Amino acid sequence: MSNQVRVLLITDDQVIQEKVEFWLTTVGMFEYLGSFPSFRALQSSQLYLPDLILVAFEDIDPALQAISQLSLTYPRGRFVIVTANPSVQAVREMMRADVLDYIDLDQDVAQAGVDLLQSYLTDRERYERLSMQILSERVVTQARSLVFLGNKGGVGKSTIATNLAAVFAQRGTKTVLVDLDLRSGVDHLFLGLSPERTLGELAKEVTDFDSTVMDRYLSHHSSGLDVLCAPRSPEDANEVTPGLIRTVLQTLLRQYDYVIVDTSPLVDDILLAAVDVSHDFFLISTMNVNVLHNARRLMDLWNKLGYSESNLRHILNRANTKHGLRVSDVHRILKFSVFWQLGNDERAVDRAINDGELLVLKHPNNRISREINGLADRLFDQYRYRPTRRNRGKTRRFRNFKQKTTVQG
Ligand SMILES: Nc1ncnc2c1ncn2[C@@H]1O[C@H](COP(=O)(O)OP(=O)(O)OP(=O)(O)O)[C@@H](O)[C@H]1O
Ligand SMILES: [Mg+2]
Repeated sequence: MSNQVRVLLITDDQVIQEKVEFWLTTVGMFEYLGSFPSFRALQSSQLYLPDLILVAFEDIDPALQAISQLSLTYPRGRFVIVTANPSVQAVREMMRADVLDYIDLDQDVAQAGVDLLQSYLTDRERYERLSMQILSERVVTQARSLVFLGNKGGVGKSTIATNLAAVFAQRGTKTVLVDLDLRSGVDHLFLGLSPERTLGELAKEVTDFDSTVMDRYLSHHSSGLDVLCAPRSPEDANEVTPGLIRTVLQTLLRQYDYVIVDTSPLVDDILLAAVDVSHDFFLISTMNVNVLHNARRLMDLWNKLGYSESNLRHILNRANTKHGLRVSDVHRILKFSVFWQLGNDERAVDRAINDGELLVLKHPNNRISREINGLADRLFDQYRYRPTRRNRGKTRRFRNFKQKTTVQG
């Protein structure tokens, strides 16, 4: 990794742009990635992964608005406001908006660059310490957390996560499903549940976590699966923070064998918080050029964020060759092997969803149900799972279904 700090500038002011460019070239440790006149212009450009994003507008309010938009695109972005002579009120607002620092435009040029570097390095050190702590916590537990992700809506994340979680539970492993699609989560509908409490209430009510507290917010499914349902409203969803997600998942990992996490198509700080404390990641795509190109983008981001591809697996959903693409095209576009394939049976899948019943339970012999059981077999083989004593009695044996697929380890 280069030691240079990659900096991007957002400003619509030519004079500020020239001044900041001068700072960045004066202090040798910066790599200047360029300047954009607005958040929108940046959004429509290529993906950059800046270490620091400087935001300079004449007033503080548009700068803060740009930062709140930018933090969705760059959830790990560190933002610095460039401003002249800010008022006490403005400084307070910047602190509230989680701005890393501000730079006074009127100060000495070289000093501004050095200050900027200093606050960046202090923050990075703090972040790296935190990451090390999270990584070390991750190894002490035997339990596994599996995250289903995909940056396109409707590819089948929820269908696969709910059905697979129920298969895990039905086979006697202590399993909990967490619906992290905070604004549009519908896993409870797929499972036919009417939750009394959800992640939304948990976010508003709980400050000290232990297993008894957690239980009050879980719903229970007939398969034996426990479920932490998504918040009921956008207001409740706003209460959920990345820190809460880390704590919730780490608490569940102490209580369960498997934590299955369903996610939204948005790559945001909630998703990254889940990734930080999880073990295995399943990238879901269908056989569509647009979906596959987006999946490739997500993988590029994955690599740039420093996550390992060794725990990432591609599940190709609704696979069929009727619409012009072949599995070889999927490899060509995604440049990643297919770990598992599921067929396409819209009638059966939609019918199960509309009835609030899981396909794997209602029609265990349906092709998709058998393929999901096959996926569970494969994962259990890899995890060398042996049911713990407390749930050994409940274990049911399944036929070791072998799927015909171009699967690779
Ligand atoms: N293997 C399949 N065969 C046929 N239809 C499927 C299959 N998998 C999913 N679907 C259908 O695709 C639709 C979207 O599925 P699902 O809700 O699981 O996607 P998602 O990735 O969770 O979407 P979102 O990102 O919007 O939450 C559903 O109507 C479902 O019936
Ligand atoms: Mg979904």
